[in-house]
Amino acid sequence: MKETIEKALFSPEEIAAAIDRLAKQIARDYAGQPLLVLGVLKGALYVTVDLVRALSRLPDGPSRIELDFIVVSSYGNSSRSSGEVRLLKDTSEKIEGRNVLVVEDIIDNGLTLQYLRSLLSGREPASLKSCVLFDKPYHRIVEVPVDYTGLTAPDVFVVGYGLDYQENYRNLPYLAQLQSWVFSE
Ligand code: IMP
Ligand code: MG
Repeated sequence: MKETIEKALFSPEEIAAAIDRLAKQIARDYAGQPLLVLGVLKGALYVTVDLVRALSRLPDGPSRIELDFIVVSSYGNSSRSSGEVRLLKDTSEKIEGRNVLVVEDIIDNGLTLQYLRSLLSGREPASLKSCVLFDKPYHRIVEVPVDYTGLTAPDVFVVGYGLDYQENYRNLPYLAQLQSWVFSE
């Protein structure tokens, strides 16, 4: 699979350092309060697990951390979402009255996160914030608030660390750019 990779964009160490920075900010903001971390599968699987692990290593974070997942799939072509999100699995916990932190892998046009925010805010959580590991700020269609941002990715389609191209490459430990011929196969 390696020969389809154009280049590595962020190494595992750079990703880990960014997640540690996010965890410190989050620990500070939720110190002494309970927190429900809601990962958006499948893409945010890696970042959610690593973020919760980093949070748990910090001494003065949330009073308790619960973990839940939502599974969505976005319609659109394979490299850009249309914002038409299909909810494949809802939360298993009730979010009413709770501090909810949505964890996403990447934000591009913003429609997926906007869909999630409107879905979840209707359920009256005590607070609703979002954390996104990779930001592609170049093609926003909607200005959706992101409370915690990890790394700014270049304006290319990226894979690895949870992110896929047609369900491939999620398992790469780093973030990568694919060679352009891959998209025309
Ligand atoms: P948005 O709706 O355009 O903000 O994009 C959000 C979703 O599109 C993400 O959760 C990803 O699943 C997918 N996505 C956007 N950009 C990329 C990319 O560069 N690589 C892989 N998936 C992406
Ligand atoms: Mg995603």
